[in-house]
Amino acid sequence: MGDRMQRGRIIVREANNGDLERLLDLYTGFYSELRSRQGLRPRSREEYRGEVESYLSQDKIFLAETSCGEAVGFIRISTREGCYWFEELYVKPEHRGKGIGMMLVEKAEEYVKEHDPYVYIMVLPQDRRALGFWLQMGYNLLNTLELAKNLEGEEEETQPFPLLSHILEIYRWAKEDYTPLEKRFLELVEEFHRRGGSGEELLKIFVTALEERLSNT
Ligand SMILES: CC(C)(COP(=O)(O)OP(=O)(O)OC[C@H]1O[C@@H](n2cnc3c(N)ncnc32)[C@H](O)[C@@H]1OP(=O)(O)O)[C@@H](O)C(=O)NCCC(=O)NCCS
Repeated sequence: MGDRMQRGRIIVREANNGDLERLLDLYTGFYSELRSRQGLRPRSREEYRGEVESYLSQDKIFLAETSCGEAVGFIRISTREGCYWFEELYVKPEHRGKGIGMMLVEKAEEYVKEHDPYVYIMVLPQDRRALGFWLQMGYNLLNTLELAKNLEGEEEETQPFPLLSHILEIYRWAKEDYTPLEKRFLELVEEFHRRGGSGEELLKIFVTALEERLSNT
């Protein structure tokens, strides 16, 4: 397919140093949106300049552009220890739902596939929209959990977080540390899933059982 991908009136091409200002706008848009959803204060465009400059020289970045030359989205691919990672993927809000995110992912996958059969992404479990998008794109391997500790001992606001109505696939290990109860639970979920049970249905079973249990205490 070459270096450019075109569909409708959108072109996806590799970003270069001349795209710094446009990429800086998109990058700022990505983090402003994310930080606002997380309840964090927005950072200014200039605070991101150094980061974006260095990403342009060290990472692979694809830009989506309209035929008028407006930059409407981007994806950044980094490598760590020989593994390829999709970092930010962003489409301007007014251009969403037109297949541009998918075009960027397809272009980025095409690039990675020339080097490695795997590509990784990190998704925040609270980010149900992003998770929904990546599941739709065929991503379904969850093999790491990110843990964190506040070293200043400050209390964080947290909530228990089951994976709601998604049944995700997780690598089996040769030696697993599950308790007998956990092992039985996983076997039952596997059997339920194999027989066509959905995540939504599983969630309803939990809800009904918990409601019953709580109403009896
Ligand atoms: C996620 C994002 C890049 C999607 O871009 P987009 O251009 O709107 O996506 P597309 O129009 O290409 O959608 C591709 C497919 O994903 C589906 N999709 C898009 N968002 C989805 C969601 N939140 N949940 C489920 N499916 C979704 C679309 O319906 C479409 O499916 P189809 O081909 O069956 O119609 C865009 O919403 C965005 O920039 N969000 C903010 C940043 C972000 O969350 N980035 C991802 C994490 S890094």
